[in-house]
Amino acid sequence: MRNFQEVVYMVPRKIYPPQDAFVQQANYTTEREVFDDLQFWEEQASRLDWFAPWDQVLEGEFPFVKWFVNGKINASYNCLDRHLMSWRKNKAALIFEGEPGDQKVMTYKDLHRETSKFANVLKELGVEKGDIVTIYLPVMTEAVVAMLACARIGAIHSLVFGGFAPHALAERIKDSQSKILLTADGYWRRGEVIRTKDKVDEALEECPSVETVVVVSRVANAIRMKRNRDHWYHELMNYADNHCEAEVMDSEDTLFIKYTSGATGKPKGVVHTTGGYLTGASSTHYSVLDIKEEDVYWCAGDIEWITGHSYTVYGPLSNGATVILYEGAPDFPQKDRIWEIIEKYGVSIFYTSPTAVRMFMKWGNKWFADHDISTLRLLGSVGETMNPEAWTWFYEEVGKGRCPIVDTWWQTETGSIMISPLPGMTSLKPGSVATPLPGIAAEVVDDEGRPVPRGRNGYLVIKKPWPSMIRNIYKDTQKFLDTYWSVFDGAFYTGDGAYVDEDGYYWISGRVDDVINVSGYRLGSAELESAVLMHPLASEAAAIGMNDKNKRSAVCIFVTLTEGASPSEALEQEIVERIVEEIGSFAKPERVYFTKNLPKTRGGKIMRRLLRDVAEGRELGDTSTLLDVTVIDELMIRGGK
Ligand code: PRX
Repeated sequence: MRNFQEVVYMVPRKIYPPQDAFVQQANYTTEREVFDDLQFWEEQASRLDWFAPWDQVLEGEFPFVKWFVNGKINASYNCLDRHLMSWRKNKAALIFEGEPGDQKVMTYKDLHRETSKFANVLKELGVEKGDIVTIYLPVMTEAVVAMLACARIGAIHSLVFGGFAPHALAERIKDSQSKILLTADGYWRRGEVIRTKDKVDEALEECPSVETVVVVSRVANAIRMKRNRDHWYHELMNYADNHCEAEVMDSEDTLFIKYTSGATGKPKGVVHTTGGYLTGASSTHYSVLDIKEEDVYWCAGDIEWITGHSYTVYGPLSNGATVILYEGAPDFPQKDRIWEIIEKYGVSIFYTSPTAVRMFMKWGNKWFADHDISTLRLLGSVGETMNPEAWTWFYEEVGKGRCPIVDTWWQTETGSIMISPLPGMTSLKPGSVATPLPGIAAEVVDDEGRPVPRGRNGYLVIKKPWPSMIRNIYKDTQKFLDTYWSVFDGAFYTGDGAYVDEDGYYWISGRVDDVINVSGYRLGSAELESAVLMHPLASEAAAIGMNDKNKRSAVCIFVTLTEGASPSEALEQEIVERIVEEIGSFAKPERVYFTKNLPKTRGGKIMRRLLRDVAEGRELGDTSTLLDVTVIDELMIRGGK
C-alpha cells in the first residue's frame, strides 16, 4: 500500500453554487434527508417495471447480499417494451453517427423489433438462459441490440474492449468459456478500416470453446468466413421472427460480466445482477445526469466500458432517453468533430473523461468557435481526477459558465455512480467529486480501518451494501473475497485513496493498489509485467502508474535483464512492442527503466511505491523494510535521467 502524505488543502478555492435556471428544472432539487437507506432504494427500484414485487429489499450482509429478494424483472423489457405503451415508441432511442458521416436513427420501436429478432437468432443458435455471450463489437447500434437481446432471453453478456490485442481477447473468452462470439468485419478509425475480424480469427486459434461467430458487416472489406462457424448477422436476421417475449428473470440473476484488471493475476469477470444493477444505473442516470424527456444525451465512452453499459445503454434506455453513438475518432476529419456532432444533433448532456477534456483544451477554443454548442446544459466527467485547470476550461469555455459539471466517482465494481455532485443542489469545487449520493455510505479510513480526520488522506471504502454492487468474480469467489473484503472488516475496499475536506467534499487521489489507470483504461501491473517477461532478455519487471502534475497517469516499467544482456534503445523498443502485442497499443508505457535490481522487502515483495517515488522524482518514502538499500542509489540515477 502507498504511504500517505498529509494533504494541505487549505488553498482558497473557487466554489460554484448551483444556478437558479438549472435548479428550477432539475430532477433533484431539495436536499433529501435519507433517514432510511432501504426505503430510499426501494423507492428507486420502484421507478422500474417489475413482473413480480420483491418480498424483502435486502437480505444478507457484506459481502454476500441479495437485493429486491424474489422480485422478477427483465432489463430489456425495462429499456424497450415499457416505452412502447406511450408516444415514446417512435422517439429516437439511438442516433448513430459513423466516422465517414453516415447516420442511422433507431426509434424505440425499431430497437425493440431488432432486439427481439436477434434474441430469436441467439435462441436458434442454441443460446440458453445463463449462457455467456462474448461481444467484441465497435460502437454501433448492433452492439446495443446484442446486449439487450442477451438480457431479453436471460443470457449473460461479456463485452470486450476493441482495443485489446488478440491474446487479451482470448484470455477473456477462455475465462468465460463462452461458446459464441459476436463481432464485426471492421470499423472506421481516422479514415482507415480497423480489421476487427482478423483479430478475432487470431484470438480464436487459442479458444476452442467458441463454436459460433456472428459477424456484423460494417465496412464490407474482404474477410475470411470459416465454414460452419462464422455467420453474417444480416443473413441470420433475415429469417428471424420479430416477436420474442422477455424472459422473467430473478432480481439476482446475472445480467452481465465485465472483465476488469485487478492488482494481481489475470483480469477478473465482475458479476452484476439484474434488479440491483438496473436500479443503480437507472436512478443515478436520472438524479446525477438529470435526464429529461427532450434531452439529447451523449456519453462519449466506448460501450464495452462499464460507463457505456451503465450510461449509454441501461441507464438512458431505461429512462427513455435519446442516445448518441459515435463510431470514430474525435479529431477526424478534423479536431472539431465532437463539437460538430453536438451542433448537428443538439446534444444537451455531454458525459466524457478528463483525458478527453484535456485534449480538447489543448486543441483550443477555435475548434468550437464556429459551432453552435449552446444546446448543452449539463457536462459530466468520469474515469480519473479532473485537474482544476481542465475543469475550469470545460466549465467556462464549453459550458459558457451555465452548465454544471458532474464529476462522478465510481468503478466497474460499483456498477453505478457513487460519489458525485447532484447538479441541481450541490455547489461545485473544481477537482472534487463532491459528496456520496443518497444511499451510499462512503468513508475514508486509515490502515486500521478507522475514520481519518478531515484533510488527511486514507483509503476510500464503502460501509453498507448498495444495489448495483459487484456480487462475485466469475468462477472465483476466493478472489472476490481476497480482493475486496480482506483488507478491512465489513467494508468494501475500493483500491482508491481519498480525503475529505472541511465541507465534507471528497477528493480522489488515485489508486493505492497495483492497478494502473491510464486515460480511464484500467491495467493490472501483473498483466503488464507478464507481457514484459515474454521478452527472453527480461529477467524481472515491475509496472507502475506514474502521475504528472496534472494527475495524468502513465505506465512506467522497470526491468532487470538476464546475465550478459545490456540496455539499449532497441531493447527498450522491443519491450514496448511486447506490451502492444500482448495487451494493445493503449497500454504503451511512457518510460522503460533498466535497472540492476528491483527494490524488495525482506519478504521478497517488490516495493512499487518506491518505484513510484523514483519515477515521479520525489523523495523516497519509508525504506526501512527494504532488503538491500543500495538498490535505491542506482534507481535514483536511472530515475533522474
Ligand atoms: O481510480 C478510480 C478511477 O477509475 C477507477 C475505476 O476504473 P474502472 O473500473 O475502469 O471504471 C471507470 C469508470 C467508472 C477508480 O477506482 N476513477 C473513476 N472515476 C473517477 C476516478 N478517479 C477520480 N475521479 C473520478 N471521477
